Amino acid sequence: MANISIFGLGYVGCVGTACLAKLGHKVIGYDIDETKVSCINQGIPTIVEREVDEVMKEAHTQGLISATSSTEQAVSKSSISFLCVGTPNASDGQLDTSCLFHAIRNIGKALRSKSTFHIVVIRSTVPPGTNETATEILEKESGKKAGINFAVVSNPEFLREGMAVSDFLAPPITVLGSANPQALKILRKIYEPLNSNIIEVPPKVAEIIKFVNNSYHALKVAFANEIGAVCKKLDIDSHQVMDLFCQDTQLNLSPYYFKPGFAYGGSCLPKDLKGLNYLAKSNQVDVPILASVEHSNSLHIQRVLDRVQEIGIRSIGIIGLTFKAGTDDLRNSAAIRLAESLIGKGFSIRIYDRFLNIAREKSDGKKELSHRIPHLLPLLEETPESLIQKVSLVLVTVRNSEVPQLIINNPGIHFLDLVRLKDSSVESMPNYEGFCW
Ligand SMILES: NC(=O)c1ccc[n+]([C@@H]2O[C@H](COP(=O)([O-])OP(=O)(O)OC[C@H]3O[C@@H](n4cnc5c(N)ncnc54)[C@H](O)[C@@H]3O)[C@@H](O)[C@H]2O)c1
Repeated sequence: MANISIFGLGYVGCVGTACLAKLGHKVIGYDIDETKVSCINQGIPTIVEREVDEVMKEAHTQGLISATSSTEQAVSKSSISFLCVGTPNASDGQLDTSCLFHAIRNIGKALRSKSTFHIVVIRSTVPPGTNETATEILEKESGKKAGINFAVVSNPEFLREGMAVSDFLAPPITVLGSANPQALKILRKIYEPLNSNIIEVPPKVAEIIKFVNNSYHALKVAFANEIGAVCKKLDIDSHQVMDLFCQDTQLNLSPYYFKPGFAYGGSCLPKDLKGLNYLAKSNQVDVPILASVEHSNSLHIQRVLDRVQEIGIRSIGIIGLTFKAGTDDLRNSAAIRLAESLIGKGFSIRIYDRFLNIAREKSDGKKELSHRIPHLLPLLEETPESLIQKVSLVLVTVRNSEVPQLIINNPGIHFLDLVRLKDSSVESMPNYEGFCW
C-alpha cells in the first residue's frame, strides 16, 4: 500500500482522500484552508456528498486519513502527491491555474530535502501543456531531475458530483499521461482494484480529454433540449423521440462520425438538417445549435482552402469527388464545393475518383455526370498515376487504398490527407500532412 498526499481538499480532493484510503492507502491531505484541514483531521468530509461520510469515517477510524497545513510534511510523508486544486475560469474564459502552480512550486521546494522518488499526479482539469510546465517548475524549485528523482503524471478525474464516490470507485476509464514508465507502473497498481480500463496516452491528450468530454456533455444537454423545444411545438413526446434515438447504437450512440476529418455532405445529412431547422423556424423555436451546424461545416471547407493557400502550391489534384468512398453519389459533396472554390481562386485542378470512373463507363452514369458536373468532367483523370504527373499537391477527400503507395512513390508531391488514411507507413513521411490531427 502507498503513502499518498492530496493537495486541495474540495470535492475532488475530499472524495479522493476517502476513496484512496478505502483502497487501503495511507492518505495525508493538504489545503491552504485551515478549516478543511481540521475537518479531515477529525474524519469529517469537507463537502456534502452521497456515501462520502461513511467511507471517510471508516478509513479515519482505521488511522488511514490525516491532514496537515504543512506542504513539507505532506510531501515527506508520501511518495505520491495528487493535485486536486481548483482551476476556475478566469474572466477571459481560460482556466486559472495560478493556485495549482502555487501548490506545485511548494511541492518542488519540499522535494529539495527528499531523497526518494516522488510522483506528482495532476488530477485537476488543466490546459494542455500543464504537465510540461509543472515538470519545469519542479526541476527548478527542487534542484532535482525529472525521470530520475520525480515524475509528473496527468490523470484527469471523471467523477460527477452527487455520484462522486461510486464514480471514483468505478470510473468509465482511467487515463494516465506521463513520459515516465516507472510512475505509470506505480499508478497502474494504485488503480488496479477499480477494474476500469487503464489507458496510457501522451500527457497533452490526457489533459485535453476533460475539456472534450465536458464540452460534449454540455452539447448533449443543449441538443436534447432543442429537440425537446421543437417536439413540444409539434405535439410530439420528445422523451419518446430521444429514447428511440438512444436505441440506435450503430450510428447515434457509437464511435461512428466521431473522427476529425473532412466536412460532411451527401444526400441526407445536409437535407434533413435543413428540414429540421425549417420546422423549428416555422414554429418560432430558436435552435442556435441546430442552426449553426451547417455554418460549422462550411467553415471546415474554408479551413482546407486556407491551408492550401498557405502551402502555396497552385497545381492541385483531388482524390475523391463523391461525398464518400464506395459510391458515385455527388449530391451535396463537400469535395465538389472544395474543387469549385479552388477553381474560383485560380488554382489549376485535376481530379481522380475511382467510383466516378466506373460510373462514366455506364451510359446513364455518363449522362448523369454530364448533367451534374459538366464543368468538372474535363478535369477527371483515368488513373491516380496520370493525376500525379500533372499536380504538385494532392488533397485526399476519401479513403482510397491506392493512396498510401502513391505517397511512398512520389516524395516530391505534397499530400494533404483530409480523412486520415490510417496508414502508419505514410504518416511519418515528410510529404504527408494530416489535415486536423
Ligand atoms: N467538482 C467536480 O465534479 C470535478 C470533477 C472532475 C474534475 N474536477 C476538477 O478538479 C479540480 C478541483 O475541483 P473541485 O471541484 O474539487 O474544486 P474545489 O474548489 O471544491 O476545491 C479546490 C481546493 O483547492 C484548495 N486550494 C487552493 N489553492 C491551493 C493550494 N495552493 N494548495 C492546496 N490547496 C489549494 C482550495 O482551498 C479548495 O479546497 C478542478 O480542476 C476541477 O475542474 C472537478
